[in-house]
Amino acid sequence: MSRKDVRHEAADLVKRTRSLLEAQQQLGLDFVRGTPEAPARDEARSEREVLLSGTLSLEEIRQVLGDCKRCKLHAHRTQVVFGVGSPKADLVFVGEAPGADEDAQGEPFVGRAGQLLTRMIEAIGLKREQVYICNVLKSRPPNNRTPEPDEIAACEPFLIAQLKAIKPKLICALGAIAAANLLKTKVPLSKLRGKFHDYQGIPLLVTYHPAYLLRNPNEKKSAWQDLQLLQKEYLRLTSRPSR
Ligand code: URA
Repeated sequence: MSRKDVRHEAADLVKRTRSLLEAQQQLGLDFVRGTPEAPARDEARSEREVLLSGTLSLEEIRQVLGDCKRCKLHAHRTQVVFGVGSPKADLVFVGEAPGADEDAQGEPFVGRAGQLLTRMIEAIGLKREQVYICNVLKSRPPNNRTPEPDEIAACEPFLIAQLKAIKPKLICALGAIAAANLLKTKVPLSKLRGKFHDYQGIPLLVTYHPAYLLRNPNEKKSAWQDLQLLQKEYLRLTSRPSR
């Protein structure tokens, strides 16, 4: 079976499982909240398997995410904030979660922190459209509180699928939440900065979250050092060997 066939089959499977579950719910067989729980568990498992298989395109992943209600955040948010940028980006920035501006506009990093991120991207010689930007969470936590473990767990397959679809050459984790969840570590951000880590074979650099830099402008110098490291590695990984 070709890769395209596998992708279609996977997307179709997710669609069919979802409509089956919706039909069951309409008939009052509420497997999500009630018993028996097996069909909901099976659907979640098969959806997760499809997402983690790395066979879906960004568009297909967005379709599977839908008007997500997989965790409690859906009750407070305006809309899902999926990601923005080039689906073929060599560099992906991963932040924490949408804030108020992102929740209103449906695009990550468009508020004050986002404007700083745009300047950081431009400082390494790139345009916002050349990279891809997304978050650990796709829904805004109320009052921008820290993401909770169940919310991160519900969103994680989507972030993994996004990274598998894009296959970037480099990843930059913005802040402690992104770093901890991508690297599965409890090591503090201060100890993770300044060197590349490995995310599934992709070099990953950790730097300060732009919102933190707005509150702590003294750290901008350190962030600039991180960006220089990122730029050097980006150029090394993307430059074609001269003939
Ligand atoms: N902070 C984040 O982590 N992500 C956004 O999209 C905006 C602010």
